[in-house]
Formats: sequence, C-alpha cells, structure tokens
Amino acid sequence: MSFNIAIDGPAGAGKSTVARLAAEKLHFIYVDTGAMYRAIALGLLRGSTDIEDASALADALGKMEVSICHVDGTQHVYLNGEDVSGLIRTEQVSDMTSRSSAKPEVRKKLTSLQRNLAARENVLMDGRDIGTMILPDADLKIFLTASVATRAERRFLELTEKGEPCSLEEIAADIAERDYRDEHREIAPLRQAQDAIPLDTSDMTIEEVVEAILTLAREHM
Ligand code: DC
Repeated sequence: MSFNIAIDGPAGAGKSTVARLAAEKLHFIYVDTGAMYRAIALGLLRGSTDIEDASALADALGKMEVSICHVDGTQHVYLNGEDVSGLIRTEQVSDMTSRSSAKPEVRKKLTSLQRNLAARENVLMDGRDIGTMILPDADLKIFLTASVATRAERRFLELTEKGEPCSLEEIAADIAERDYRDEHREIAPLRQAQDAIPLDTSDMTIEEVVEAILTLAREHM
C-alpha cells in the first residue's frame, strides 16, 4: 500500500517549492498537478481553442496526451511527448489554466492519471482538489495558505529576479482574481478538506514550512 500526502492551497502559497523539498527528504514522488493543468492550457492556447465551445474543447482534449516523468527528482511534464516544462509558467498560460481547469472535461482527463500515480507510489501531490476529490483517503492532508500580500510579494520577487517587468499591485489583483475563480467554480472548487491540517505560511521561511510538513508526515506514518 502506498502512503499519500495531499497538499492543497491557493496560487502562490509556496506549495510547489515546499512540496518538492519535502518529497525529496521523504523519498516520495512529488506530483505537481498544476503543471498537468498548465500543459493542457498550453495545448489549448496553441490550438487557439475556444474553451467555451464544448465540441471544440472535447476535440482538442481528445488530441492531447499529458504525462509526467521524473528526472533527478524533478518533475517534467509532457504534452504529446514534448517536454513542455519550461513553457508553462507564463502569465498567459496561468490565465488560461485558471479558466480551462474549471471545465469538467479538463478535470476528468487528469483525474485517473493522478489517482493511478498515487495508487502505485508513495506520493506527495499538490493541487487544489487533491484532499477533497482526487485522494479523499490520503494518509495526510495539508492546506497551505498565505495572505494575498505575501503571495504577491513572493511572485513579484520571482519575476523581478528573472528580469520580467511587473507591478506589485497588478500581481496582487491577479492573485485575488484567480483565488476567486478557483474558490467559486462549480467543479472541484478550492477548499480545505474537513480533515486537512491548515498551515499559514505568511510568516514562515521555506525551511520552516518544509520542517512542519516533515513533522506532520512522521507523525502520520
Ligand atoms: O498550482 P498552479 O499555480 O500551477 O495551478 C495552476 C492553475 O491550475 C490554477 O489556476 C488552479 C489550477 N489547478 C487546479 O484547478 N487543480 C489542481 N489540482 C491544480 C491546479
């Protein structure tokens, strides 16, 4: 039997960074489900698919195959065999991902992929609906949050370091809007599972968050 850890939370709460580090320490497979939704969004953008047109969406999804594999502990995501890991973190893809991941057809496409991975391996899986929908029987569920201001600052620093021009106010507004969409969509909205442990990372360092996750994992194993 595999041991599964579900980490959910809003955009920019630092989930992927801490989840990757914690998984490495636990020798678990880290599964970044957001990257899978992003790969699909990239495919939809490339095909200029009108996602409000159900038959166009179904058609586009039917032609897409998403898979992941791990190279030196890092997850790579593939769209029809092409490694798209380096192409899915743009604002344009983020925006399309937030909109397309609200579509039931898109979620259905990724559900079995995610469940199959968790059935086979000890995984630490991060996303929005892992504890509520994908792995309702996960051995440990954590809900990671941080204030909008903290998340916007983190993203601002990340973009500034990459030399991408950006405005803190715009980033904060984008994050708030994306939160709203993720929390209010009909299908698999972002919400804390009843049995999830909340962790507010606003005033914590990455190391402190990783340590908190490792402590919880050891308590539950
Ligand atoms: O975690 P992230 O920022 O890479 O997620 C990108 C988008 O994908 C975000 O708008 C929410 C969506 N998402 C989702 O709906 N369900 C998941 N399990 C993971 C991500």
